[in-house]
Amino acid sequence: MSKYDDVKNQLKQSPKVWLVTGVAGFIGSNLLETLLQLNQKVIGLDNFATGHQHNLDEVKSAVSAQQWQNFSFIKGDIRHIEDCEQALSLDNLAVDYVLHQAALGSVPRSIADPVLTNSANITGFVNMLTAAKNAKVSTFVYAASSSTYGDHPALPKVEENIGKPLSPYAVTKYVNELYADVFHKTYGFNSIGLRYFNVFGKRQDPNGAYAAVIPKWTAAMIENQPLYINGDGETSRDFCFVENAVQANILAATADDAGKNQVYNVALGDRTTLNELFSSLVNALAENKVNYQQSAIYRDFRAGDVRHSQADIGKAKQQLGYQPEYRIQQGINKAMPWYIKHLSK
Ligand SMILES: NC(=O)c1ccc[n+]([C@@H]2O[C@H](COP(=O)([O-])OP(=O)(O)OC[C@H]3O[C@@H](n4cnc5c(N)ncnc54)[C@H](O)[C@@H]3O)[C@@H](O)[C@H]2O)c1
Repeated sequence: MSKYDDVKNQLKQSPKVWLVTGVAGFIGSNLLETLLQLNQKVIGLDNFATGHQHNLDEVKSAVSAQQWQNFSFIKGDIRHIEDCEQALSLDNLAVDYVLHQAALGSVPRSIADPVLTNSANITGFVNMLTAAKNAKVSTFVYAASSSTYGDHPALPKVEENIGKPLSPYAVTKYVNELYADVFHKTYGFNSIGLRYFNVFGKRQDPNGAYAAVIPKWTAAMIENQPLYINGDGETSRDFCFVENAVQANILAATADDAGKNQVYNVALGDRTTLNELFSSLVNALAENKVNYQQSAIYRDFRAGDVRHSQADIGKAKQQLGYQPEYRIQQGINKAMPWYIKHLSK
C-alpha cells in the first residue's frame, strides 16, 4: 500500500479539521473535493478575487449530502487578519491543518500590478501564518512556487539551489518561504512549503488575461480560435496534474516532524515543451471528437518567464512518500472531458 493510501485510510478512521484558503479557486476546490470525500471537516476561506462560486457548486455535486454538511464557508479576505482569525475559530472547531492556497497567481499580473500581488501574497500570507500560529494549528502547508528558482540555470531544480526572482510574483512566493522559516525559528511554528510546478486539471480558469497555458489553449482549440505560442515553442515546463498536488498537500499536512519546516518540489520530474504540449492537447481533443486544424502562431517571448523548468522530486518522494499517480498525458486525458463540457457552446 502506498503512503498516500495509508494516510487516506487513517484520515477516514480519524477525521481532522482543515482550513483551505483559496477554496473557491482551482487547486483549493480540488483539495476540498478530496478532503470531503475522505469525510474530513473543512472550513473554506475565499474572497472570490479569482475563484468562483460555481467551483464550490461543482464540489457540492461531486460529494454526498452528508459530506457536504462537513463544509463551512467564509467569504473573507486574507488581507484582513480578522477574517483569518474568524476562519480559524469558526464553530469553536480547533483547526488541525491549514492548506493555504489563497494568493494572486500569474507572473504577468504581478508585473502589471505589483502592489496588488504583494498585498494578497505577502500581507495576506503573514496574516494567515500569524493567525494559524496563534490558533496553535499543527501544520501550515502553503502554496509556494517553482518561480522561486528564478534565474538559477541548473536543471532539474533541486530545492536548495535557487537563483534571483524574475518577477514580483516570484519575490512574493520566496518571501513566503522566508517568513515560514522565521516563524519556525522564532515561534517554533511548523509549516511546509510546496513549490508547485505548472499545476493543471479541472476547474483551472480558462478565462481572463492571466489564464494558464493549458486551459487557455484548450479553450481556444474547442472554440476553434487562433492560438499563440510565446517564443519558439521550445520553452519547457514540468506540468503537474492537480491530483498529484492534492496528494502532496495531504502528505505534507500529515508529515512527521522530520519532514516539517522544509520546502518540496511538487511536479512530475518530466519536461514538456510548449510545442509538445500543443500536440498533446490536439490529440486528446481529437480522441473526444473535437478537431483543431489550425497551426499555432508564434510570437515574442513573454517578460518574466523562465526558459526551462523541471523538478527533481526526490526530496518529496523520500521525506513525504510522494508518488505522483498521473503522468502529463494521463492528466490531460482525465481533464479533457471537463473542459469540453464546460467550454463547448
Ligand atoms: N496553478 C499553478 O500552476 C500554480 C503554480 C505555482 C503556485 N501556485 C499557487 O497555488 C495557489 C493556488 O493557485 P490556483 O492555481 O488554484 O489559483 P486560483 O486563482 O484558481 O486560486 C486562488 C484562490 O485564492 C483566492 N484569493 C486570492 N486573493 C485572496 C484574498 N486576498 N483573500 C482570500 N482569498 C483570495 C482567489 O479568489 C482564488 O479562489 C496560489 O497560491 C498560487 O500562487 C499555483
